Amino acid sequence: MKADIIVLGGGPGGYLAAERAAAAGKSVVLIEKRALGGTCLNEGCIPSKAMLNSAKLYQHALNSKGFGVTADNVEIHQEQVIQRKNQVVGSLVAGVKAIMDANQVTVVSAMGYVEGKTSDGFIVRADDKTYVGEKLILACGSVPVVPGIPGLKEGIVSGYVMTNAEALSRTNLPEKLVVIGGGVIGLEMASYYAMVGVEVTIIEMLDKIAGPTEAEISEILLRAYKRKGIKFKLGCKVTGVTEQGVLYEQKGSEKIAEADAVLCAIGRRAYTENMGLENLGLEMNRSAVVTDEHLRTNVEGVYAVGDVNGKIMLAHTAYREAEVAVNHILGIEDTMDYSRIPSVIYTDPEVAGVGETEESAAAKGMKVRSISVSMNYSGRYLAEVERGDGICKLIVNLEDNTVVGVHMIGSYASEIICGAEMMIASKKPLAELQKLVFPHPTVGEVIREALFM
Ligand code: NAI
Repeated sequence: MKADIIVLGGGPGGYLAAERAAAAGKSVVLIEKRALGGTCLNEGCIPSKAMLNSAKLYQHALNSKGFGVTADNVEIHQEQVIQRKNQVVGSLVAGVKAIMDANQVTVVSAMGYVEGKTSDGFIVRADDKTYVGEKLILACGSVPVVPGIPGLKEGIVSGYVMTNAEALSRTNLPEKLVVIGGGVIGLEMASYYAMVGVEVTIIEMLDKIAGPTEAEISEILLRAYKRKGIKFKLGCKVTGVTEQGVLYEQKGSEKIAEADAVLCAIGRRAYTENMGLENLGLEMNRSAVVTDEHLRTNVEGVYAVGDVNGKIMLAHTAYREAEVAVNHILGIEDTMDYSRIPSVIYTDPEVAGVGETEESAAAKGMKVRSISVSMNYSGRYLAEVERGDGICKLIVNLEDNTVVGVHMIGSYASEIICGAEMMIASKKPLAELQKLVFPHPTVGEVIREALFM
């Protein structure tokens, strides 16, 4: 079968590229070996949010005395949590399939293998059939990093060690969970398991959690987690995994954090093996495919969007990259801007940020002023949250008085941040931004408060 474009991988990058290209009149073949929706829909963003909401409801039912609400016999049923999560995922996966069908994208449910390029185009084999595409968009995603720590791989094989996929599908709860890695996946999953009553310990190599998150916000998050009863071993190197727990080194001595389940969340890497990519002669950076600002690879006609290019492994980055790549194919002027990609950690409290932090601005030699405002300025926040140590931080460029970064921790942060992104994108000075009217009472009003400080 011949097509204008073959897309390899049906996650956010792949399915959006297919949709946009097909809507513009291109014939598209989308090859995906598992369910449509990729990691985000099947074992990442969406399932974790469904489960975290069950855990939050459980915690609210248990701990709302201060709000005048009490309940007896409150229980959480893990099997039902997973069942509901599966329903949510199932309906969204069906939704993606419906969008592909509506746009007449040919979806092939099989592993794709790139055989190479001929004068006809790129040759991809899938399900014993051969597909020929004039252009090829690689959107193969990523897989968890599993380093050579003694006992780790064996633990994964035996089921004692989970990655994100297993942590989002187990129907029984362990008593003690040790999480290796205090990054986004580690924190979101630790948050879930701690809220449903599991004893959780996080072992993190660095001295702070949530890696690149603004330092003050990372500290507040750490305190909030400790209040949930989560234990931390910061600045500790994991040296081994046994059936009794995780061995780690702390100030030169070896210790063990006991566990009856372990989650390995120390990062993800681009997934590029066993699919014939070596037949294309692509420039690679370790396992990632190297791309330019149009998401082009070094091979003409081949693009790489989403986690597979190893740049910013977030579904919303993949969406935008897909649009930029398709626009390049369509001859529409567009380039990828990585400077304003929002990041969110969906824990309780939520963390969200976009643009420069004090640290990143200093590294670029920018002269900035940082404005920090307590979320308690918001009446809505005080009315809804029993204990409030949320903050909103604006990073202002002293050269032109524009906002170059916004970082928040507290309720609704994930929902407010896209407004903050538009504020940065507008490049308007503070005096102009102060004229914006924010609805009252909202938590987002803290941004307006900060604009006047
Ligand atoms: P990550 O890179 O966010 O965090 C990994 C953490 O593990 C780091 O803090 C690192 O210092 C630590 N680490 C590495 N080796 C270690 C060792 N041997 N012992 C102890 N600690 C060690 O990676 P994570 O959490 O696995 O997430 C993977 C990707 O998924 C990220 O790119 C993230 O952006 C994406 N993701 C995004 C979400 C969101 O936007 N809300 C949610 C979940 C995942």
